[in-house]
Amino acid sequence: MTKTITFKVNPGGNLQGETRVPGDKSMSHRSIMLGSLAEGVTHVKGFLEAEDALATLQAFRDMGVRIEGPVNGELTIHGVGKHGLKAPKNELYLGNSGTSMRLLSGLLAGQPFNTVLTGDKSLSGRPMKRVTEPLAMMGAEIKTTERGTAPLHITGKAGQLKGIDYVMPMASAQVKSCLMLAGMYAQGETSVTEPAPTRDHTERMLSGFGYPVRKQGNKITINAEGKLTASDIDVPSDISSAAFFLVGASIAPGSDLTLKHVGINPTRTGVIDILKLMGAHIEILNERLVGGEPVADLHVVYSPLKGIDIPEELVPLAIDEFPVLFVAAACAEGQTRLSGAEELRVKESDRIQVMADGLKILGVDAQPTADGMIIQGGGKIGGGVVDSHGDHRIAMSFSIAGLRAGAPITILDCANVNTSFREFKQLVTSLGLDLVSEES
Ligand code: S3P
Repeated sequence: MTKTITFKVNPGGNLQGETRVPGDKSMSHRSIMLGSLAEGVTHVKGFLEAEDALATLQAFRDMGVRIEGPVNGELTIHGVGKHGLKAPKNELYLGNSGTSMRLLSGLLAGQPFNTVLTGDKSLSGRPMKRVTEPLAMMGAEIKTTERGTAPLHITGKAGQLKGIDYVMPMASAQVKSCLMLAGMYAQGETSVTEPAPTRDHTERMLSGFGYPVRKQGNKITINAEGKLTASDIDVPSDISSAAFFLVGASIAPGSDLTLKHVGINPTRTGVIDILKLMGAHIEILNERLVGGEPVADLHVVYSPLKGIDIPEELVPLAIDEFPVLFVAAACAEGQTRLSGAEELRVKESDRIQVMADGLKILGVDAQPTADGMIIQGGGKIGGGVVDSHGDHRIAMSFSIAGLRAGAPITILDCANVNTSFREFKQLVTSLGLDLVSEES
């Protein structure tokens, strides 16, 4: 039986000290994928040892890749080369991880063996047509359920995929990366044009492994004429995990916090820009390049926030941070409006509805809209029982709300915090939040 975890947060406190949050989830997935396809041995440091990235790791072990570790975030991947993966004996179970499923669907479409991809209840409800439709245009054969969801039954079409020139209908790094991975096995060129910039870790890491990728404006082009040469990877801290602490320190008087070695790739820093527009006090220190990715230490102190209209161009650059940004908005004086964020409805949960429901229970005036939310901030945050619907980022966001709450908050269904941030409870309590975790 799977265990149920409930978080109980006592109100008040602030965040003080210095910490390093775990490794970036997106880069951890990609380090396994590209390290496995490379020729030679890849060493990874800073790998995220949480369920999502471990699901990707297990999938590649199931396809015959020898991977040592993780031990303290270190891995050794014995790459099998672009054509070295082997048929897995069973279906590949990817848990809660949309990134694993969408990226793997592209990679596996062009292999000389068949695969079945499955996931948990949340992942099995998420839209997969966004990848299977363009892959079908390339000649892939992937069966979904009638609703366009997992399980995905993939018939490997080695040597038969054809490149396409695809304009993505939504800003999605997962769709872009999926098609790039399929393009590495397709005849001719595969181009993907994105409507707005999204995280570019696949492009950067491919280049780091010596695989040619062309970028002209928002169009990325790849073909099968390359190989990956093993390369060491140093994964920085995940800005999406740092975001909980950036918001927590910004809303809790007396806070003074430094987050070390955080990835500040410009396709990920929307949360810093949005918080700064709201009046947050965040300093970016010791900027440096680590393995082709920009990294910095972030120093944040409490600052009174004000409501804003969130610029739509920042939405894809902060897409995973809106649950906790809604908490910042609840604490900000005046109205905050988000629009252009309909993608939030198809994340690990419907993050617009689930956050609006929880904030209302806590007494916050939060009105969901089709593509965003309107929050009247500055009032009191109360206590109550809120449901995270098994969404890791919602569970952590309501924990952070406790810093400014007037009464205890109970958060249901928190086991999935382990998908991205196993150390969350221990870290946030060591920095000053009164949170206990109850298992049943
Ligand atoms: C991710 C891309 C984003 C993000 C997800 C991780 C990735 O999803 O929400 O958490 O690693 O490529 P979309 O591409 O669906 O926006």
